Amino acid sequence: MSSLFPHLFEPITLGPKTIRNRIVSSGHDTVLDDHGMIGEDLVAYHEERARGGCGLIVLQVSGVHETARYTSHVLMATDDSSVPGYRAVAEAVHRHGAAIFAQLFHPGREVMDGERGMAPRAVAPSDEPQERFKVVPEALTTFAIKDIIAGYASAAKRIADSGIDGVEIVASHGYLPIQFFNPRVNTRTDEYGGSPANRRRFLAEVVAGVREAVGPGVVVGLRISGEEKTEDGLVATEVLDLIGHLDAMNCLDYFSITAGDSSTLQGAVHIVPSMQIDPAYAATLSEQVKKVTDRPVMVAGRINQPHEAEKAIAEGRTDMAIMTRAMICDPAIANKAQHDAVDEIRACIGCNQACIGHFQMGVPISCIQYPESGRELTFLPRPRVRTRRRVLVIGGGPAGLKAAAVAAEQGDDVVLCEREPHLGGAVLLAQELPYRSEFGGAATNLSAEARRAGVDIRTSTPVTQQILAEVAPDHVIVATGAKARMPQLEVDDEAFVIGARDYLSTQPNLPSGRVLVTDWKGDWIGLGIALRLAEARVPVTLATAANFAGAAIQQYTRTLLMSQALRAGVDFLNDARLVGVDASTGYLQSTLCEVVHEVDGVAATIVSGAPQSVTPDLDFGSASVRTIGDAVAPRTVEEAVFEGLQAASSLAAVS
Ligand SMILES: Cc1cc2nc3c(=O)[nH]c(=O)nc-3n(C[C@H](O)[C@H](O)[C@H](O)COP(=O)(O)O)c2cc1C
Ligand code: SF4
Repeated sequence: MSSLFPHLFEPITLGPKTIRNRIVSSGHDTVLDDHGMIGEDLVAYHEERARGGCGLIVLQVSGVHETARYTSHVLMATDDSSVPGYRAVAEAVHRHGAAIFAQLFHPGREVMDGERGMAPRAVAPSDEPQERFKVVPEALTTFAIKDIIAGYASAAKRIADSGIDGVEIVASHGYLPIQFFNPRVNTRTDEYGGSPANRRRFLAEVVAGVREAVGPGVVVGLRISGEEKTEDGLVATEVLDLIGHLDAMNCLDYFSITAGDSSTLQGAVHIVPSMQIDPAYAATLSEQVKKVTDRPVMVAGRINQPHEAEKAIAEGRTDMAIMTRAMICDPAIANKAQHDAVDEIRACIGCNQACIGHFQMGVPISCIQYPESGRELTFLPRPRVRTRRRVLVIGGGPAGLKAAAVAAEQGDDVVLCEREPHLGGAVLLAQELPYRSEFGGAATNLSAEARRAGVDIRTSTPVTQQILAEVAPDHVIVATGAKARMPQLEVDDEAFVIGARDYLSTQPNLPSGRVLVTDWKGDWIGLGIALRLAEARVPVTLATAANFAGAAIQQYTRTLLMSQALRAGVDFLNDARLVGVDASTGYLQSTLCEVVHEVDGVAATIVSGAPQSVTPDLDFGSASVRTIGDAVAPRTVEEAVFEGLQAASSLAAVS
């Protein structure tokens, strides 16, 4: 048992199954399916997390009925063609001592995609419209309700017969079972609507049917939002009452507690809470659930580090800790915690960019800090080079750090030179933005990985011909990043205009009056600066050349930032590019047509423009040279780190 985390590594029994520790990877849709089935990518993904030491893996949602296709890539458990996939992933996870459950899912009206790009079609208890995906569902007939309930039971049996240890009924986040329970969503007048007992009926019949189908030897759990945290959503007292009734049925082995609701942006931010939300915040909900049931309870929500998990369990607020993104980011977090290697943990920073962000784009999930995630078959296990070479990495931003760390792990001698005194590149600037300080963790993690791998890191060292001659590299990786660029503007001599990067790094006093922040991309820079100023009670207009402010930010992260900006009083102007500034007016050209906007009373203008790649002018002699990250084309940390991984991996291929 770990001396640091005695509660976390104590085994726990859920119904008929004992789990080796309290660390859970909860159901998360990876988009790693093979045409709606579990294929080798998904098996490799979960095997890596089981190898990393967690106790329990819950597979992503599996549709229980033809009407449950909420995306075009959802796993389906509706017929026996799904069996080999469940069997393969169960065997892979069991090989490493972890347990594995699967989620039984029907979205009801929460359908994101229609067939081949058509508008989504959905069924629900009633035809109440869904705000986020703009769905008006079809009210279910009683016959269809019975058919779906039977679908839960038959899917559960199929999954359990495939060797999966348990099934988890998804009643969280406003999905079908809880739509039935919510009187603001279910307006039926038959036996499935009206009184609380009638609104509980669907879920109660699902729970009873599933238990009967799988028998006593398989774990049956329930996932539910302790509070839906949105207009018309369920509040804690309603949920606790429901849990009490379900508990009394004696069919369930555990409750998995989360927060939020899919039907509105306000509720959906809690499905995958981003860095603005405190670690382990939903333990206040699981703590209340523990008062109404004696069965084990687990909770999700930004439990990123083992000490947070240990604390919540030790304080009796939960029995198990869901650490899902923590393991997308670092699959070996459990082993590292257990073997006193906490410093080696690559902590999730809650950016949401490559995990839920990718899911929402319909592409396989990954992690900006650890692009091996979701690409296990391509990049793991790390190869070893046959002959040790000298590798010079120029630039200590995310691209260079990742390339250096991986090349060194593969066995090459790596020197990394960074011209600035600090490592981190663009990450250092990003962490200066409000509510984004955690982003700095990406630089800390990557730097630590490079150091541990034995990279010879030289800061304040611009690469010169002399350094090249001294290092005498066989391979050079150029990761020199990007610099700020000011767009072509007509600027009056009396105007105060400053680039966003300069503003963030020097934090000058601005002349008093309205600040116009202009932003070409719709990312965090413009929005973050505008928010900071507005929170300091400075009048601000944020003009973006994107369709809307924060358009390039993952939806949940953006929703939280935008609500803060709205509360702080930021004025918005969309689809507009800055063309000129005089003493007190900013002139913006619409990106849609000939209309010109004038923003009056402007005392200062902060311009966040498109950056520009930086590449060194050096003679590399006979060394192979590869340029990566922003030095190729300015993008985000995700592409930079991925290209670092690719560059180092390709070096192993030529050893
Ligand atoms: C990419 C992604 C997909 C998700 N899909 C599901 C899902 O299929 N079923 C589910 O119950 N929750 C899903 N979730 C929510 C997670 O189970 C979990 O509750 C959430 O990530 C918060 O926990 P964390 O802070 O430990 O990541 C998903 C989360 C992510 C990041
Ligand atoms: S992409 Fe960001 S939020 Fe997602 S797992 Fe990685 S660090 Fe965490």
